[in-house]
Formats: sequence, C-alpha cells, structure tokens
Amino acid sequence: MDRIVVTGNGPLSGQIPIAGAKNACLTLMPATLLSDEPLTLTNAPRLSDIRTMTTLLQSLGAEVSALNDGKVLALSSHGLNNHTAEYDIVRKMRASILVLGPMLARDGHAVVSLPGGCAIGARPVDLHLKALEAMGATLDLRDGYVHAEARGGLKGAVVEFPMVSVGATENALMAATLAKGTTVLKNAAREPEIVDLAQCLRKMGAQIEGEGTSTITIQGVERLHGATHPVVTDRIELGTYMLAPAIAGGEVELLGGKLSLVAAFAEKLEAAGISVTETERGLTVTRKGDRVQAVDVVTEPFPGFPTDLQAQMMALLCTAEGTSVLNETIFENRFMHAPELTRMGARIEVHGGTARVTGVERLKGAPVMATDLRASVSLILAGLAAEGETVVSRVYHLDRGYERVEEKLGAVGAMIRRERDDG
Ligand code: EPZ
Repeated sequence: MDRIVVTGNGPLSGQIPIAGAKNACLTLMPATLLSDEPLTLTNAPRLSDIRTMTTLLQSLGAEVSALNDGKVLALSSHGLNNHTAEYDIVRKMRASILVLGPMLARDGHAVVSLPGGCAIGARPVDLHLKALEAMGATLDLRDGYVHAEARGGLKGAVVEFPMVSVGATENALMAATLAKGTTVLKNAAREPEIVDLAQCLRKMGAQIEGEGTSTITIQGVERLHGATHPVVTDRIELGTYMLAPAIAGGEVELLGGKLSLVAAFAEKLEAAGISVTETERGLTVTRKGDRVQAVDVVTEPFPGFPTDLQAQMMALLCTAEGTSVLNETIFENRFMHAPELTRMGARIEVHGGTARVTGVERLKGAPVMATDLRASVSLILAGLAAEGETVVSRVYHLDRGYERVEEKLGAVGAMIRRERDDG
C-alpha cells in the first residue's frame, strides 16, 4: 500500500487539468451492454474504479480496450456470453450494480451480486430493484445475488422515486431505452452525470427527454447502435482542486472547469471569502485574505451542495474564522474524516448527521488514515497548509477517484510525495 506525505508550504500557483468524471464514466461504460455495436468513450479518467468496471464488463464477455494511455475506452458487448456479475468484483465497487438494468433490457435476464454496504453507509439498492420491477422484471434475491428476469422484455412504466437516487435513476434510464412503450421517471436525479448519460444514449439512438430535470421521459426503441462520446468533466475533482488554493493560499487555474458544474459549491467558496472567476480555459480560484470566513453547509442532491465535496469543504473550514455547521443529509456515516482532522488539531463536534467546526489558526501535520475516497483527499488538502508533515496512509482509497494527485498538486507548488508503505 502507498502513503502520501504532504508538508505545509506557501501559496500555490499554476494550472491543474481536470479529468473526465469517474461517476459519469462508471455509468457510461455499462451502457455498452445495451447494443452489440462499439461504444467509444473519450476523455476517460485513468482511475482504479475504471479498471474495476473494465474487469467486470470483460467477465461478462464484453471487450474493453484502454487506448491513448487510458484516455479512450473502446467497448463492445458483441461477445456478451455471461449474465452473472460475480460478488468478488461487485464487492470492490458498488457501481457494478449498474450492469443490471442494461443486461436485463438487452437479453431479458441478469444475475448480479448485491453490492453490500460500504464505509459511508448501508447504501441499499432497493430503489434500483423497485424501478426495474415497475418495468415488468421479476426479481428473486437469494444467496446475496439478484436473479432478474424479464421474459418478453421490459415494459414502459411510470416510476416515482420516493427519494432522489443517482444510481437508481441511471439503472432505470438505461433499462427504459429498450423497454416496450413509454417510461416516465419522476423525482429523478438531476446530476450532470445523468445528463451526460442521456446525451450518450441519445447518440446511440435512444429517445429521451427531460434529463437534468426531475422528470425524464423515455420512448423505448427496438435496438440501439454504437456511438462515440466524451466523458463530461469531473465536477468533484474540480471542486476538490478548487479547495487547494482556498486552503493553501495563492491562485490556481482549473483547466476544463465549468462554473455550471459546481455553482452551489462555488457560491459557498465566495461566501467564505474565496474568489472564483471563469476564464477561457476553465476556472481561476484565488484566495486573497489571510483567513477564510466560517460558512454553513447542507449537502443535497444536484443542484445543491454535493455530498462528495463535504469532506473537502470541512478541511477548509477547520481554519476559518468562526464556527461552521455542516449537515450531511445524503449518507448516514460520512464524517470519518473528522477524527483524522481532529488529530491535526481541528476542533470538530459530530452529532449524527451534523458537524460543528470551530476554526483554529492553523492545523498541525500528523500521521492520519484514509477511510474512504473523499475523506482521504480532504486530509491531503488539510496537509497543504498544516504546520509540518502530514502522512496519509491507505491511499488506495484515493487512487479510486483521483488521477496522480501528487503530480497535479506538485505542479502548482505543493510539497507532496508518494511513498511505498510496506508497514
Ligand atoms: C452516486 O452514488 C455516486 N457514485 C456517489 O459518489 C455519490 O455520493 C452519490 O451518487 C450521491 O450523489 C457513483 O455515481 C458511482 P444515491 P449512488 O443512489 O448512486 C440511498 C464518490 O465519492 N439509496 O444517489 O450510490 C443511499 O443509501 C461516490 O464518488 C437507497 O436508500 O448514490 C443514499 O443514502 C460516493 N436506496 C442516498 O439514497 C437505493 O436503492 C443517495 O444515494 C439507492 C440509494
């Protein structure tokens, strides 16, 4: 396992290129199962989660080739010969459940391991299953697997989600493209990754309206054809690196960044005293004053403040002037970064889904432990301005969602290095 050592250093300056979105790519890749013609994804991120999805699709008999140093993925499910997604792959990455809807829609049957929980919460998939049942699938849960059948194919239906779910919206959207008749998804997720998926499916011949709003309408078609599609910019990587100059000081341009992807987050940064301006090539973030102001944060489905940026925002607020209250409404256990930040001198009180952060002048570097993908990067961000050295272990969590973090931060002046951690 590797660890990352970051030493508090002066202000940052320079540019950071933002990659394609992990959470868009993880739903675009299974879309290959909807057609036996080739699907090519460009601007793909080079991440371990993408490699895990590649392994899963290959285990089903699909071809996935990473070209151009991994930035292009050439997929084809022409050779699909296995409809069972095994536990030992699915347990590594919950997004594996996204092969269920497409496989069911294409061939009328699928067996997919239940993903199990993860560090940030139980994360059930009941909404995925209810949506597919509404479309005529019969689902049998046994030995930890979902055995799904749709004899005669799926049928269009009205699906009303009781709560917003990104994954359930994606599974239902993909399944509906080949269902007989019209499907209406109500209280659908509005994330940019959903919009990106709908645009790719439309290029494949799907008939979809309303993506990006709470109601998506799909007219099922007989078959879909191949397409080429660029993965949308990763708004979570973008927000993460916007916080680097916010925490360490200085000015950094995020290449490929778009304000529309992070509007609610950028608003909070501005309220804290950070300036965010659009440039021809992306977004420039500047921290002028010597201390940011405390702000309150409530995580919400898009277009609200993203839960995937809550841990990183907390790292900024640990040294803000005043007390900030962060309310995590999406996941039940997403403050695991708090005890680690406390080891660095932060003052944080967690009660259920609420964290109260009282800003201190400066954090002190310390050995800390990464627990989940976004918590791990929040510890690195905190280390950028902490006094002395911060050693973040178990960075395999980090590599799931961030390409070469030490290179991207090192290029703008951070003192950061990766070491082998054979401990
Ligand atoms: C996606 O997860 C993202 N992952 C998550 O990013 C992100 O945090 C989340 O959406 C919310 O934005 C990918 O896209 C691969 P949900 P997903 O279904 O689809 C509950 C990261 O760091 N729920 O919107 O699993 C669920 O427990 C990851 O990149 C049910 O109860 O999220 C959660 O409390 C972490 N039943 C809430 O809904 C269901 O069937 C939102 O989950 C599904 C979800």
